[in-house]
Amino acid sequence: MPAAILPADRPDSIAAAAAALRAGQLVAFPTETVYGLGADASSDTAVAAIYGAKGRPSHNPLIVHLPDAGAAARYGSFDPRAEQLARAFWPGPLTLVVPRVAGAALSGVVSAGLPTVALRVPSHPVALALLQAAGIPLAAPSANVSGCVSATTAGHVAEALGEKVAVILDGGPAQVGIESTIVGLDGARPRLLRPGGVPREAIERLIGPLDDPAAGIVAAPGMLASHYAPHCPVRLEVTAPRPDEALLAFGPVVPPGAKVTLNLSPRGDLAEAATNLYAHLRSLDRADIAGIAVMPIPAHGLGHAINDRLRRAAAPRDA
Ligand code: TXA
Ligand code: MG
Repeated sequence: MPAAILPADRPDSIAAAAAALRAGQLVAFPTETVYGLGADASSDTAVAAIYGAKGRPSHNPLIVHLPDAGAAARYGSFDPRAEQLARAFWPGPLTLVVPRVAGAALSGVVSAGLPTVALRVPSHPVALALLQAAGIPLAAPSANVSGCVSATTAGHVAEALGEKVAVILDGGPAQVGIESTIVGLDGARPRLLRPGGVPREAIERLIGPLDDPAAGIVAAPGMLASHYAPHCPVRLEVTAPRPDEALLAFGPVVPPGAKVTLNLSPRGDLAEAATNLYAHLRSLDRADIAGIAVMPIPAHGLGHAINDRLRRAAAPRDA
């Protein structure tokens, strides 16, 4: 049965979505980063339904969403660095990977059998209202088919997963537009497992340098080479697009010649570019173009995360 798309600004929508979650069903909801595909993180069968709906490999663990840091501390153990980051950036686009608390009431499937758990307190008012109303921790990956472009609107979710979820809460377009930054705090030194909505520089100002996962090792199991991929091939660092290409532009000076052009931020603002990234990739991903050409994006602040996603969108694909 296709999902009910409910306007998130109505209290009865939140109540209906919370009831569906408590009954073990899937609910897509807005967060400030991207839309999430939520389920009861304490239930093996509810969590398994997420993997089934997304076609996600079972070795790739999920982020558990909570309404506040106090709730998060029931599931993960926070050292002083983790506490500092939680105080500074929660609620917000930061995920902390910490040791799982022994006996935590969480499905083992959520962390794919790992001794750690990824925790996040989102800042979107709808996500927080839903977490409070449901009263359970919510496992929620991005609400897209595994490997494809993430969803930043309720419409994107309906297109890809509409038949597989009970409710889609429509809270308008996601503001940050790119997934949370993931920091690993389960070892001696903190690691940047995924660049995202909180710039690396802001985290390093607080807790010092972050290690990068060693080359060749997939630190966050979801960070495989090809990911976030549209159907069309993607070409990076393009300054001269071809006539059969779609151009994903950035900044005020746009080279001519592409069949169609969308600009991530005509004024060259990286936050605006992140907000538009996935929606523009989806719009340019059309049958009548040979590929998507992407202009160079500056590699600082949110540019790290944008470039990370674009490299994965352009990576060779298995099939
Ligand atoms: O912004 C976000 O983080 C969004 C919204 C919905 O909150 N969620 C999201 O989830 O991006 P997902 O499943 O698309 O990406 C989660 C990433 C994956 O790369 C996964 O491998 C990693 O988090 N992850 C989860 N648990 C982990 C763990 N225990 N250790 C290392 N990486 C983990
Ligand atoms: Mg994802």
